[in-house]
Amino acid sequence: MSELNKIALKILSNGKGILAADESTGTMTKRLEAIKVPSSSENRLLFRETLFSSASMKTCIGGVILYDETIKQTASSNKTIPELISSSGAIPGIKVDTGVKVLAGSPQEKITEGLDGLRERLKEYYKHGARFTKWRGVYNISNRYPSKLSINSNAHALARYSALVQECEMVPIVEPEVLMDGNHTAQDCFNKTSEVIKKCFEELLLHNVDLTGIILKPNMILQGNKSENKISSEEVAKLTLKCLKENVPSNVPGIAFLSGGQTEIQATENLNLINRNNNTNFIMTYSYGRALQQSALKFWSKNIKDIQGTQKVFNHRANMCTLAAQGKWSSELETK
Ligand code: 13P
Repeated sequence: MSELNKIALKILSNGKGILAADESTGTMTKRLEAIKVPSSSENRLLFRETLFSSASMKTCIGGVILYDETIKQTASSNKTIPELISSSGAIPGIKVDTGVKVLAGSPQEKITEGLDGLRERLKEYYKHGARFTKWRGVYNISNRYPSKLSINSNAHALARYSALVQECEMVPIVEPEVLMDGNHTAQDCFNKTSEVIKKCFEELLLHNVDLTGIILKPNMILQGNKSENKISSEEVAKLTLKCLKENVPSNVPGIAFLSGGQTEIQATENLNLINRNNNTNFIMTYSYGRALQQSALKFWSKNIKDIQGTQKVFNHRANMCTLAAQGKWSSELETK
């Protein structure tokens, strides 16, 4: 078993999942302003440190994705943030893309940037304690999109990124996110996501990426958020499993879904059904941002000094997600 495979399995095994706390300062500022909390670096640290020192870090969270600002910060205990995360048994990770820009040649679409100077930045992050990384490609759906150009160029970037990350002995999270925005059907999402994932693996293989040492972070197969053709959670699970079984090579150790704008409960229920019906060899878990943090953030905004209260809300959500990652969640547990 390679070292990279061991890291991936340590992050994903036993119902553990990933806390995606890698919102850029711009995104975090929007989240904090929405709840009327000033977005200072102290407040961003306070909220994140509150999560990273909660009890569920030991039992539920296998890895935490950080943003550049956070990986360099020091917690109130004088531990660095990566040390704080490691002390609970979780692995620190880092978002290394530098965000999305308009895709030249298809200006309605986006391309993710950050390859220039990446090798040097990776070495720095490794010294800070990171052992895995994230890069997100984003695709919108309509009858014209995603275009072949967007599918090919994002897959190429994800593969170049992954090869560099493995060269630096870290596990790349490969995140091709087909967005939920729009009025497309779940079948459209299935078709486009299949095409996107298939191309990503073609490029990963071309760049000699060791597939046993990556984590795939895809979207679930959902109808567009403006679609009237609603499908059930059972159908979401069925289509998601079919898409991954058909397009992901079997030596990939695990899949950690993004929540992508689903509510906390939807993201938990869908993951639970995916695991109850999992007919693949892949570990299926979560790498949630909003679906792990939303309630905790809301509570915290009204009780900024109440660390324990905030942690209680976060622990509950993490526990529910970890049960779902084992197919053991039920809606009654939400109110217990
Ligand atoms: P969401 O779960 O909020 O979609 O965030 C996950 C993530 O890391 C997006 O890149």
